[in-house]
Amino acid sequence: MTWVNTLTGPNTTTFQMPTIQVQPVGFALGARVTGVDLSKMLTSDEVQQIKAAWTKHLVLVFPGQQLDPATLTAFTTHFGELDNYDSQPFNRHPEHDHVMLLSNKPVNGKLPAGAYNGQNWHTDLSYTVRPAKATMVYCIEKPSVGGDTMFANMYAAYEALSPKMREFLDDLEAVNDVSLISARRDPAILEAFKRLNPPVVHPAVRIHPESGKPALYVNDRVRTFVGMSDLESKPIIKFLCEHSVQPRFVYRHRWEVRDLVLWDNRCLTHLAVGDYDPKEIRHMIRTSTMGDHYGRLENPQAAEASLKAAAATSQEVAAGVSALHD
Ligand code: SIN
Repeated sequence: MTWVNTLTGPNTTTFQMPTIQVQPVGFALGARVTGVDLSKMLTSDEVQQIKAAWTKHLVLVFPGQQLDPATLTAFTTHFGELDNYDSQPFNRHPEHDHVMLLSNKPVNGKLPAGAYNGQNWHTDLSYTVRPAKATMVYCIEKPSVGGDTMFANMYAAYEALSPKMREFLDDLEAVNDVSLISARRDPAILEAFKRLNPPVVHPAVRIHPESGKPALYVNDRVRTFVGMSDLESKPIIKFLCEHSVQPRFVYRHRWEVRDLVLWDNRCLTHLAVGDYDPKEIRHMIRTSTMGDHYGRLENPQAAEASLKAAAATSQEVAAGVSALHD
């Protein structure tokens, strides 16, 4: 904890005030951070305190922040290299490639592509070879009720498994498939997602590079395990998905306007709860930083063909996407 002097003149007592306060908001994960203005340039000491709290609590909530795409971006860069969201060009902010719109606010009378993002348990960008490290979401508008985000601690989920199950999973690789991103997507958008993001393989358990602890890395977007049939894989995936999101591992965030929430995709899964009136606006902006090159393509030849098709159809995709906006 850093302390600052507020009164330092001669013949005065020196008072010291804490700057950043971190208050847990969930037993499994999550903390509320106050005493810092994220729109300002942060000191290296403040950044260190925030990073330490992030490593400990996995999800940090900064209430009452006043951010825009530029200040959100500036804060994000403390956590690594910005992701330009090439995996989903149709979800970007019109003026900032690295800012994603999570919004059901109609554009020219049509629902935007990112209206129903994240409505199953996932970890961001696990369908890429370089899945996200940090994600930040800033709430600009929220529905009167619902539209929460839930987070599950995947260290805790892993630790709670039996030693035999952990041993089995430690050697396993999982195929992460973007076609499983969730049912409520526009079919044209889903097709574009699939062309741009061929299936990738990641370890089923990943060692967090900073904490050194193992975390389960299996969620609703895992299709199968490498070296096992779908028939064998499916019941295990189902078990792990159900196991990992038990209430004892979960923090549920009820958004307030001007909350900035920062999370660590390497050790948690999350879900945007789609339980709000679609006539009400839920409007958020999101940034992510690139994680390590963790995965590999499941089938490099098919992936190449898919990416070529994506390039060849990029105009068609762009036209399809703009049709959604027109
Ligand atoms: C996401 O980034 O997965 C969406 C989170 C949300 O909209 O609550």
